[in-house]
Amino acid sequence: MITRLDLFIHRMVSQRACLDHSIAQTSGMTQPVFELGLGNGRTYHHMKSHIVDRDVYVFERAVGAHPDSIPPEELTILGDVRETLPAATDRFPDGASLIHADLGGHNREKNDIFARFVSPLVEPLLAVGGLMVSSDRMYFENLVEQPLPQDAVEGRCFIYRREI
Ligand SMILES: C[S@@+](CC[C@H](N)C(=O)[O-])C[C@H]1O[C@@H](n2cnc3c(N)ncnc32)[C@H](O)[C@@H]1O
Repeated sequence: MITRLDLFIHRMVSQRACLDHSIAQTSGMTQPVFELGLGNGRTYHHMKSHIVDRDVYVFERAVGAHPDSIPPEELTILGDVRETLPAATDRFPDGASLIHADLGGHNREKNDIFARFVSPLVEPLLAVGGLMVSSDRMYFENLVEQPLPQDAVEGRCFIYRREI
């Protein structure tokens, strides 16, 4: 039996493996990185520590992260992503090289409904060659699902790429 503890550990291990893989795969790209959902700031802290060549913008409705993981004000896009993502298409015409989304809560059904809603808002923001990492399955028209890196657990994290 897979316990809730197992599922939590799988999610954490998968997030780190997918982020490390995607940061390496997109290094050399010049577009910024987007973190959707700051939460406690653990994944933001990891990304900030490993991404030295690009700005990391955070989309969050209310910042309440660990003091070590508070993004600078000029890189924080406050508000509901259902409004801030559409607005970001004008502000970032070249898109993002890497987008990480961890917007969900404990209810899988609700997370899936939200992922369906937010997918078309995320899709136009990813640059060609860029990668999108998500804790939930996304519903994209043109982004292609990628194989997971070693150490990631199937179904606990997803990676998508814009090919053209
Ligand atoms: C699971 S937490 C993120 C955890 C984070 N990855 C970490 O490592 O600490 C989800 C975050 O997404 C944010 N969020 C959820 N829905 C949102 C929305 N519609 N707009 C903006 N932020 C949202 C919540 O406020 C919460 O802080």
